Amino acid sequence: MMRAAVGLWVLSAVICVGRGHHHLGHDDDKTIQDTVVDGSANSVSLVTEANQEFSFRLYRKLAADADSQGKNIFFSPASVSTALAALSVGARGETHRQLFSGLGFNSSLLTQTDVDQAFQRFLQRANNTSQDTTEGTAVFVDNRFKPKPEFLQTLKQSYLTDGFNVDFTNVTESADTINKYVEEKTNGKIDKLVEDLDPNTVMYLISYIYYKGKWETPFDPELTKQDDFNVDENTKVSVDMMNMDDDFYTYHDRELNTTVLQLPFKSSYSMLLMLPDVMATLENGISPNHVTKWLKAMMRPRKHDVYIPKFSIKTSYNLNDVLSEMGMADMFGDRANLTGISEGLRLAVSEVVHKATLDVDEVGAEAAAATGIGIMLMSGFWGPVPVLKFNRPFMVLITERNTEKILFLGKIINPTI
Ligand SMILES: *[C@@H]1O[C@H](CO)[C@@H](O)[C@H](O)[C@H]1NC(C)=O
Ligand SMILES: *[C@@H]1O[C@H](CO)[C@@H](O)[C@H](O)[C@H]1NC(C)=O
Ligand SMILES: *[C@@H]1O[C@H](CO)[C@@H](O)[C@H](O)[C@H]1NC(C)=O
Ligand SMILES: *[C@@H]1O[C@H](CO)[C@@H](O)[C@H](O)[C@H]1NC(C)=O
Ligand SMILES: *[C@@H]1O[C@H](CO)[C@@H](O)[C@H](O)[C@H]1NC(C)=O
Ligand SMILES: *[C@@H]1O[C@H](CO)[C@@H](O)[C@H](O)[C@H]1NC(C)=O
Repeated sequence: MMRAAVGLWVLSAVICVGRGHHHLGHDDDKTIQDTVVDGSANSVSLVTEANQEFSFRLYRKLAADADSQGKNIFFSPASVSTALAALSVGARGETHRQLFSGLGFNSSLLTQTDVDQAFQRFLQRANNTSQDTTEGTAVFVDNRFKPKPEFLQTLKQSYLTDGFNVDFTNVTESADTINKYVEEKTNGKIDKLVEDLDPNTVMYLISYIYYKGKWETPFDPELTKQDDFNVDENTKVSVDMMNMDDDFYTYHDRELNTTVLQLPFKSSYSMLLMLPDVMATLENGISPNHVTKWLKAMMRPRKHDVYIPKFSIKTSYNLNDVLSEMGMADMFGDRANLTGISEGLRLAVSEVVHKATLDVDEVGAEAAAATGIGIMLMSGFWGPVPVLKFNRPFMVLITERNTEKILFLGKIINPTI
């Protein structure tokens, strides 16, 4: 029965740490009510829904990826969508259209401004309502690079972005600066987001999220015992299995052949753990509606003898291919249109990287993630340096620029005579 259980933590923490959880949980309908008053509730809920759908689309892509076979999957959809939404502020034309629809925003119902305002609300709420979680964004800009002031202004206002100047000609030092920032924001959990910076980087956009919560009812460490975890039919590994015999909120989903356990934290957050008969049925079928249904249906706790392994995992992704397959390919190549960041220079995204960690023990859970988006000058923009050789007859003119008075004028047909 415990088979494939590591796969399922993944989804669980995705949901509990992700936003949009608010109106599903047992608490703050008040914040939702507040938004109804100012009329932007509709676009906020459209963005919330889009983010939830994006979570599962990205999950399925990562799960299907060849590099993920036989590995745990764990990521923060909230961090990825925040970083890409912030990038979309500077995208134009087809690149913008791809980011918008890749994130699931319907451009006949939502403008970039709607999206920006929705994220502003999410980030403020995350920062305000819970001691358990911190979330934010930052941008590191090369000293010599001047992005459009409107771009930086929107990031600062809506994505609450911290801004820094760095010298990207020193890739070691600038990577260090970014990594130290992320390390501090994630309580030391993500210490090396950036590894090999492209030497043409002019700007680096990051988003981070950190969550730490204590179980409403902690597990008794005395009851934690070594036990087998069945990785697959032929593979067993030994784990520290925690145990609790108590009242729990559970639900059996017949459609997905999955038993769902809700472990509440001492806050409005919960972890959902989903144990399927067949992992593929759950992975391919799960949607935001299932989560809504489960949380609604978990009305009355019932007695269960629950066993959950204690574990710590780390994941690391380069999302370039996955995002391209999801329809967001143009930003990576010479078709990139980032003219909302700079008109004069041809820019493209060099990389989208994501790292995450999850630790679960008797006391609670700690999860962190960060997304990095590198923006580079298209190689070939500065060079090859155009050659201009006056090796045939030419004219010359000497003038004063303000009055345009022509001081001298001539034609050189043979400089040697
Ligand atoms: C970027 O998109 C805008 C708006 O569609 C378009 O006017 C502009 O020509 C595009 N620029 C580049 C470099 O593709
Ligand atoms: C976007 O919204 C419009 C208007 O509600 C709808 O007709 C269209 O099908 C939606 N597009 C997508 C891709 O959902
Ligand atoms: C955040 O808190 C501040 C002050 O505590 C309040 O003015 C603001 O409305 C809150 N924002 C959200 C989105 O809850
Ligand atoms: C979160 O709130 C703290 C304290 O109120 C503030 O110093 C910080 O700048 C805020 N961060 C964001 C991203 O809003
Ligand atoms: C890059 O920065 C580091 C740390 O400040 C310094 O030790 C190193 O000499 C610098 N490298 C170059 C090429 O400037
Ligand atoms: C659900 O489980 C039952 C019994 O184990 C099985 O007959 C059925 O095919 C499963 N359904 C799906 C969708 O996996």
